[in-house]
Amino acid sequence: MATVGEIAVERIRRDHEHMLGLIERIRAECTQRGIISNCADCNPTRHVICHGNIELLIRSFVESTLKHNLIESMFMEEHVPAEHRIAHNQAHIEIAKQLKAIRVIFSEDGNCILAIEGIDRIHQTLLDHLKDYDRQLESYLMEVTLVPQF
Ligand SMILES: [Fe+2]
Ligand SMILES: [Fe+2]
Repeated sequence: MATVGEIAVERIRRDHEHMLGLIERIRAECTQRGIISNCADCNPTRHVICHGNIELLIRSFVESTLKHNLIESMFMEEHVPAEHRIAHNQAHIEIAKQLKAIRVIFSEDGNCILAIEGIDRIHQTLLDHLKDYDRQLESYLMEVTLVPQF
């Protein structure tokens, strides 16, 4: 039977795949990057469709990422040393700030090209975060030998 730790790690990895998949979909949605610098200059027929899609995808990415970080924080409450937990939660706050900045771009001028640049930045932040924090969290969780009680 899978341990509590293994179940947690599986959940974390599945979330990461989902988040990275959304980033790919957001990037793929805009074909005009490097050609124009503002969505408003795009062909109106294209603009209406992809603007809506990108906004939905970004909203979904922001929500999934915030929720994922909360779940990791919950796992950390019981299973990791305070030093790691505090630093890791602090890193999640930095991610939340970057996500908020992307939301602000949308509510202020709706320029998807700028928003996707924000997505590029957060992509790099997330890759660094996986390496610097989540990998360590996973190894703490793998030490948890408890099995779930139903
Ligand atoms: Fe994390
Ligand atoms: Fe994570």
